[in-house]
Amino acid sequence: MTELNPLFETLAAEFEARHGSRPAGFWSAPGRVNLIGEHTDYNEGFVLPFAIDRRAVVALAGAAPDAPAFARVSSTFSDQIVELALADLAPDALADWSAYPLGVAWALAEHVSATSGTEARRALPGFALHIHSDVPIGAGLSSSAAIECAAAVALNEFWQLGLTPAELARVGQIAENQAVGAPTGIMDQSASMLGRIDAAVFLDCRSMNAESVPLGLDAEDLEILVIDTRVSHDHATGGYAERRASCERAAAEMGVGSLRELSVADLPRLQQRLDDETFRRARHVITENDRVEQAVRLLETEGPLAIGALLDASHVSMRDDFEISVPELDLAVEVAQEGGAVGARMTGGGFGGSALALIRRPQRPALEAAVLEAFVARGYRRPDLFVVQPSAGATMKGDLDD
Ligand code: GLA
Repeated sequence: MTELNPLFETLAAEFEARHGSRPAGFWSAPGRVNLIGEHTDYNEGFVLPFAIDRRAVVALAGAAPDAPAFARVSSTFSDQIVELALADLAPDALADWSAYPLGVAWALAEHVSATSGTEARRALPGFALHIHSDVPIGAGLSSSAAIECAAAVALNEFWQLGLTPAELARVGQIAENQAVGAPTGIMDQSASMLGRIDAAVFLDCRSMNAESVPLGLDAEDLEILVIDTRVSHDHATGGYAERRASCERAAAEMGVGSLRELSVADLPRLQQRLDDETFRRARHVITENDRVEQAVRLLETEGPLAIGALLDASHVSMRDDFEISVPELDLAVEVAQEGGAVGARMTGGGFGGSALALIRRPQRPALEAAVLEAFVARGYRRPDLFVVQPSAGATMKGDLDD
């Protein structure tokens, strides 16, 4: 038997305690940080996220061939074991954390139904699955996409479906939209599936063309500091859906299918046609698409030191036009900028979560101290600060040793 890394050993023992057998393998998928391109994905625009060195790991084993086809899921963040007949999987039947892996099982089963008829779906064998994750929850780093993508690669292999990484990202998004109930775009799952070491994923959310853009942080002695404000966000409710609706309204009023069809040159025309708030929502998306394209060009020609001003401008646009920042995020960004960061912005859906700062490595201790001090002075909750490495996307079994 090959030697397992210590995490796999622990998970195998936990799996056995909960499900009564050894797992057949381990699959994993990362969370993400979005470098730039916020609320552009569901507008068919551009995003530039990268996968991070925090991952969800799934251990899975098939049920005995003659056993009834059940999905049985457990995790290290709950005592609950949730069990459901595969035939009963449906978005309405799912709740809590188990909606992520079971939502993926449902979405994959739907995919099988659509491509090869309902009989094939009934033939899918049952499984048990155990999840562990070190992606912080509620920090805006896509802990949910990490679980969805890890479950998706595991079930894709177990059920021998042969879906591509891009197809699995779409399955994860369907689970998130329909089983979890958050009307999110395709960015998080794409970053989790397609990430590469020291690179970002440049995704065109209209054509779904994905390109790996090297970040070259090490060569410039740069790193990306995440400041998790610990103000929790929830995309299944409120602001996110409202912003999405504003964007759709703006596109409809301008007679285009999505805001992606419009460019910075169209802004004066939009300003005449839209009410002030809808105009500002659209201006954020249109200028943000432009910033992503500029960032990719600059990364390719001049390197990461050149993108600082774009990160800063992206934050201003989210704060003032899209209005998805919160005082804690603004403070984190301001203190990072004043402390000499190359650039800083809130990242993710907003209304809480994390900011990122692109910093020179030697700056980190002073910058961290300044952020902590500023949060204490304002009476805010103590933020979590940590560096993230642009990392590989979802992987198959046994490669967590790197
Ligand atoms: C969340 C969603 C993504 C994307 C971002 C904002 O992370 O899951 O699809 O819309 O917000 O850029």
